[in-house]
Amino acid sequence: MDTGVVIVAAGSGKRMGAERNKLWLPLGGEPIWVHTVRLFAGHPEIGEVVLVVNSRDRQEIQDWLDQNQEKQKVTVVLGGAERQDSVRNGLAALSPQCTYVLVHDAARPFVTGEQISELIRQVRTDGTSIMAVPVKDTIKVVGADGIVQSTPARESLWAVQTPQAFLVSLLKEAHEAAVQAGYAGTDDAMLVEWLGHPVRVMRGSYENIKITTPDDLWTGEEILRRRKGEGS
Ligand code: CTP
Ligand code: MG
Repeated sequence: MDTGVVIVAAGSGKRMGAERNKLWLPLGGEPIWVHTVRLFAGHPEIGEVVLVVNSRDRQEIQDWLDQNQEKQKVTVVLGGAERQDSVRNGLAALSPQCTYVLVHDAARPFVTGEQISELIRQVRTDGTSIMAVPVKDTIKVVGADGIVQSTPARESLWAVQTPQAFLVSLLKEAHEAAVQAGYAGTDDAMLVEWLGHPVRVMRGSYENIKITTPDDLWTGEEILRRRKGEGS
């Protein structure tokens, strides 16, 4: 299969304030990262999963995989100091069969199989496709002095999520160029934009939250409960 995913899980979860990487916190009784890995490993259009972890979690994650069928599709590699380093390490571990790659945060367990399929359809057409939602709030640019500098038109503002999908060759080129230039982006699309390549946006879902702070866990449990009730 020509499509793989790099799932980045090598952070430490500082904003969560937990004792260890937030991805071990339970959602519906299982670690957050397990939900994410299961969804992608079980997706019929995803041929391989590269799971990027930190050295502290590596053994425990490997042990879990050894006891679960997801193992067949998953390769575990070590991450780096910043998310961008972790993605780069993950890309290097993709097999040569992969023409397309999705990059996804392990901390976003609520993306759906249908959304993944839609993203893959779009990357096959356009070479890029990233999930995002229109912002609901009015956003202001605020200076260091605490004074508003401007208010961008809300219609043009989108909050960007993962997964983000790219031609493997394009994303690798962007990461290589960024590391050479010492350029840091906050998402993968930013590196591709910086190369001057157009990036296609796909409308995602407000449920595709990133578990970042303790209140997100409550929201997450609520999403799970409702989905179970709907039988999906
Ligand atoms: N991540 C990673 N390698 C890093 C930093 C982050 O693989 N060096 C991963 C996280 O594990 C997470 C995703 O990138 O799945 C999004 O990052 P974020 O939500 O910011 O997680 P953390 O960096 O772990 O949290 P915090 O910023 O609060 O420390
Ligand atoms: Mg972070």
